Order: sequence, then structure tokens, then C-alpha cells
Amino acid sequence: MLPIINVTGLHYTYLPGTPYEREALKDINFSLQRGELLGVFGPNGSGKSTLVQHLNGLLYPTRGSVTVCAADTSDRQQRRELWKKVSLVFQYPEQQIFGTTVWEEIAYGPKNLGLDDAEINDRVKKAMQQVGLLPEDSAGIPPYSLSGGMKRRVAIAGLLAMDPEILILDEPMAGLDPAGRSLILDIIKHRHDNSQTTVMISHNLQDIMALADKVAILHQGSLVFFGAVSQLLKDKEILSRYHLELPDYLQVIYSLQQQGYMLNSAARSIAEAAKEMARLLGSKL
Ligand SMILES: Nc1ncnc2c1ncn2[C@@H]1O[C@H](COP(=O)(O)OP(=O)(O)OP(=O)(O)O)[C@@H](O)[C@H]1O
Ligand SMILES: [Mg+2]
Repeated sequence: MLPIINVTGLHYTYLPGTPYEREALKDINFSLQRGELLGVFGPNGSGKSTLVQHLNGLLYPTRGSVTVCAADTSDRQQRRELWKKVSLVFQYPEQQIFGTTVWEEIAYGPKNLGLDDAEINDRVKKAMQQVGLLPEDSAGIPPYSLSGGMKRRVAIAGLLAMDPEILILDEPMAGLDPAGRSLILDIIKHRHDNSQTTVMISHNLQDIMALADKVAILHQGSLVFFGAVSQLLKDKEILSRYHLELPDYLQVIYSLQQQGYMLNSAARSIAEAAKEMARLLGSKL
């Protein structure tokens, strides 16, 4: 099967030929299969946002190639069609809300797709429900009157209503309360369960490990690791070289392993780690 995303020898330079020239991405190579969930991780300024903006054609390579949903983003025409298939939730999406009502805001994308009114209504309602907004309560509210977290839900609903082949979320949980966080995690899990491709930037390695199939780690514009979560967990050198702090439950498992206990370190969540420890204790969950 052809990958849904294929990035080959990607270099990207901001403001080339000016005193502010900055090579933000250097020789990036990876591919992602349809239905996979990719977690992108790396320190501030490592190139995460720059990379994901190449996946919806907002940016295109200075050198190398990026093919997404069979479209070559270096081709202007193909790049312009990508907005229909790839939706990007920006780092602070609440700053990009323009609709006069919540309903108008969410319906904006589907309207541009040229869908009929019944389909638009259906998609807007479903998207509102997915982000935990009741259509009868919230549809007529002006978005500017909502809190930051609620605005973010509206922005995400607007992109879900596009029913994109790929959904990209740039730090979607930053600054949200626990309810907002778990709602977004549920949306991501739901897409994954339905074999829909998702790319998520996160500073929380625990979230990436719990959800993602593949992990990309950026460091100063280079892709220093790309592979399965299980592969990253085994790669002690990468973990220590880039100071990747493992979730607490994994640190406990590793520490027990060092003391000679036979534990499987492939646990992806606290629940899985608890099962593994219960097994060690000889009790059933
Ligand atoms: N519009 C721009 N013009 C010039 N340089 C930029 C621009 N956007 C980003 N950069 C530079 O490119 C590099 C990568 O930035 P990018 O925003 O992709 O990093 P990031 O990993 O998303 O960081 P953060 O975690 O802070 O969001 C940084 O050095 C940044 O200063
Ligand atoms: Mg960023």
C-alpha cells in the first residue's frame, strides 16, 4: 500500500537570502501509512510546527519532496487542493476564529466544500457533539464570548466537520483543563479506532506513548528518531541523549527490571503497567 504521507530529503529555510535566514528543517525522511497515528515530539524551536505545515501544503520544501494523499506539494495546483483532505489545527486555533456564531464558524469549511445544506447541518451537529458542545445550547453563541478552551473546541469542530483524510493537531492540549484534555484525547482515540490518519504534536511524551503508532523526534531541525513507540522504548541511547523523560509508570517498571524482576516494559499506559505489576504480585485484576 502506498503511504498516505511520504517525506523525502525535506529541507526548509525561512527567509532565504536575508539576514534572518533560518534552516528550520534538515534532510527529513519518513513515511506514514493510512490509519496510523503519528506523535511529533521535540523541544521548542526544533521544527515541529514547520514540519506539520508541510503536510497540508501551507509550506512546501526548499529542497526534497513531500507527497500527501498522492499530491506532490511542490506542485502549486496539487498543493492548493490539499485543504480539502488535510486539516491542520494550529497551535492556538482560538486566535483564528472569525465566524459570527458557533454554527457559522463550524459550517465554514463544509460550505466551502460545496456540500448541500442537509449534509452541512448533519456534519456541524456531529462535530459539535464530538467536541462536547450541545447544538441547541451553543449554535447561536458568538464565538468571541467563549473561554479560550471552548473556542478551541469550536475550532477543532470546524475541522472535524471537514471529515479530513488527515487531521493534524499542533499541541492541541496546551493550556486546557483536565476535561478539555481528555475530550481531545478521546477525539484522537476515536479517529484511531476508525482507521483515520492523525498527526499530533505534543510536549507530553506520555500522551504520545499511550496513543501513537509512530513517533517522530525532532532536534534542531533534524529528525533524530522515527519509528514505532515500542522501538523508542528499547532505544536507551536516544532516550538518554535527548533527555526524554519517560512516564512515571515506565520508570517504575525499568527500576524493577534493574533489580532483577521479570517485567514486560512494553506497557503503554498506567492501566497496562498496573496489570503487569499485578501479574508480578501473582494476583488477578
Ligand atoms: N515565520 C518564521 N520566520 C522565520 N523563522 C521562523 C518562522 N517560524 C519559525 N521559525 C524558526 O524556525 C525554527 C523552527 O520553528 P518551529 O515553530 O517549527 O518550532 P517548534 O518545534 O514548533 O517550536 P515550539 O515548540 O516553540 O512550537 C525556529 O528556529 C523558529 O525560530
Ligand atoms: Mg510549534
